[in-house]
This record gives sequence, structure tokens and C-alpha cells, in this order.
Amino acid sequence: MDISTEFAGLKMDNPLMPAAGPLTGKPSLVKSVAEQGVGGIVTKTVSTEAADVPKPAIAKLGEGVLNCEKWAEEPPSQWIDDYYPRIKRDVDVPVIVSLGYNPDQIKELLPEIEPFADAFELSSHYLGRDPEPIREIASAASDLTDKPIFVKLSPHVPDLGEFASAAVDGGASGIVAINSVGPGLEIDLETLRSPLGSEDGYGWLSGPPIKPLALQAVNEIYNSVEVPVIGVGGIASAHDLLQFVAAGASATQMLSHAISEGKERYSEIIKNIPEELERLGTETLSELVGKYDNSR
Ligand SMILES: Cc1cc2nc3c(=O)[nH]c(=O)nc-3n(C[C@H](O)[C@H](O)[C@H](O)COP(=O)(O)O)c2cc1C
Repeated sequence: MDISTEFAGLKMDNPLMPAAGPLTGKPSLVKSVAEQGVGGIVTKTVSTEAADVPKPAIAKLGEGVLNCEKWAEEPPSQWIDDYYPRIKRDVDVPVIVSLGYNPDQIKELLPEIEPFADAFELSSHYLGRDPEPIREIASAASDLTDKPIFVKLSPHVPDLGEFASAAVDGGASGIVAINSVGPGLEIDLETLRSPLGSEDGYGWLSGPPIKPLALQAVNEIYNSVEVPVIGVGGIASAHDLLQFVAAGASATQMLSHAISEGKERYSEIIKNIPEELERLGTETLSELVGKYDNSR
């Protein structure tokens, strides 16, 4: 059974990576997630300033997670001088470095980080509802490196297909979808407060409750652009992962389920992929990419 995947020039033994977030926010954490046998790593988003993150930043909500984390809380110099070199040394799978957010920030960060990255993922979470800045970040990055550039889309954009096309116009080699959904709110009726420390108590929803939105987004983007799609949002099993592949994903990422249930879920899910594929009568993972049948 062949569960390897190749997309945008990257080769991975299996299609599951940790998504950008707290589980890849320190070299020691990256190392322990890599030890679970993931196909690649996506590091926590870094920007030109350290983020000031209100606490608590993460609340479990049934099977989902609500969070008000932003990007990395360390200054970029700490990542460039210490974290990225250690990650590069410790990890023998492709390292996708997540950067944010606007073209000037990408131009400032990318050249210094280039030696430590196998590819880049650009978060567009705070870029608003106009596709032009998406084109601009992809263009700024692809002018500075020949390594693959993935643009990560957030589900609150008005037209995922149009935004994905703008990223590809700018030079993106692939699209990652989706970031967390929201904003959302939870209220503890005993205290009448939100579990999150953000100013308004609002946060972003992720984990299994968002899976149908993420699957739809992946399929819409797969049908809109010619570049590979990486699916993320709500994966909690090999079965979920293969649904993303059928929707059009060449690879996948997972975060919330591992936050809730432990990093061992990465290795357990990877272990279960062959038998799920066998049950479907499919020999290789790549045969299933985009095989969702929408004829009625
Ligand atoms: C606590 C937390 C922090 C996150 N931080 C980032 C981040 O720094 N950059 C980013 O692109 N996405 C970030 N995300 C979004 C995830 O990478 C992912 O797109 C989203 O959670 C959906 O996947 P999941 O349902 O498997 O968690 C974060 C999500 C959570 C829950």
C-alpha cells in the first residue's frame, strides 16, 4: 500500500502534517510531533513582531476548540537565530515555514528564513475580504525564493475560488484550506463570561465541528485552480483524512484533535490509512485525490 504523496515538488511518506499552531511553536514540540512519523511539519506562524496573546488563549468546546491565539509570541530574531536552525537540524521531513502577513512583512522575513525552509505557507488570516493582498503576498514571496509557496486561506473570505485564483496569479504553488472559522463566542452561564481572555471574549473555532466547511472549501478550491490543495479543518481519523483526499487534497494537516487527544493521534491516524484505503479497494493514496463524485 502506497500512502506517499508528492505535490509542488515536495515528497512525503504520508499525507498528514501538524497544522501551524501551538504544537509546532517550539523546537522541542516540533521534534516530538516529528517523532510521531508525520509526513512534514508546518511551523507556528511568525511575523515581524512578537504577538501579544491574551490568556486563556485556548478553550475546549465539546470536540472543537475555540482559540484567540495570534502568531508566535517570540520576536522573529529568536526563531531565526535559534528555533529554525534547531528545527532544521532535528527534523528529517520537509519543513514548511508559516509566515504572516502583508507583503512588506513577507519581504522582511523570508530571505533570512529561506535557508531553514523547504517551503513556505503564507497565512492570509488578517488580510481582509479583498483578493488583491492575497495576490501581493504570493507575488512578494515567489519573487524571493524558488521554494514552493503555499497560501493558506481563511473561510471568512467572500469567494474561496476567486481568492485561490488570486494566490495562484501571484505565484502560489499550492493552496492550504482552511484556517479556523469565526469569530465565535462561548458563554459560561455561571460566570456570564467567555472562557477566552480576548478583549471581547471572541475566538476562532476549529476541530471536528468545522470539517464539513473545510471539505467543501477544499473541493471548491480544487475545482477552481490547477495547483495542489492541502486540506485542513476537523480531521480526527484516517477516514476523515481520506475524505479530504477525495475532495481534492494532495496532503492534509491536523491540529485541534491532537490538542484535545494528544500528539499520538498523528501516528495512530497514519497507521490506519492503509487499512482504510484497502477497505475502499484503492491501492495508492494518489488515486483517490479529487475522486469525489458530484454527479446527481
Ligand atoms: C490554538 C490554535 C492556534 C493556531 N495558530 C495558527 C497559526 O499560528 N497560524 C495559522 O495559519 N493557523 C493557526 N491555527 C489554525 C490551524 O492551523 C488550522 O488551520 C485550524 O485549526 C483547522 O484545523 P484543525 O481543525 O485540525 O485544528 C491555529 C489553530 C488553533 C486551534
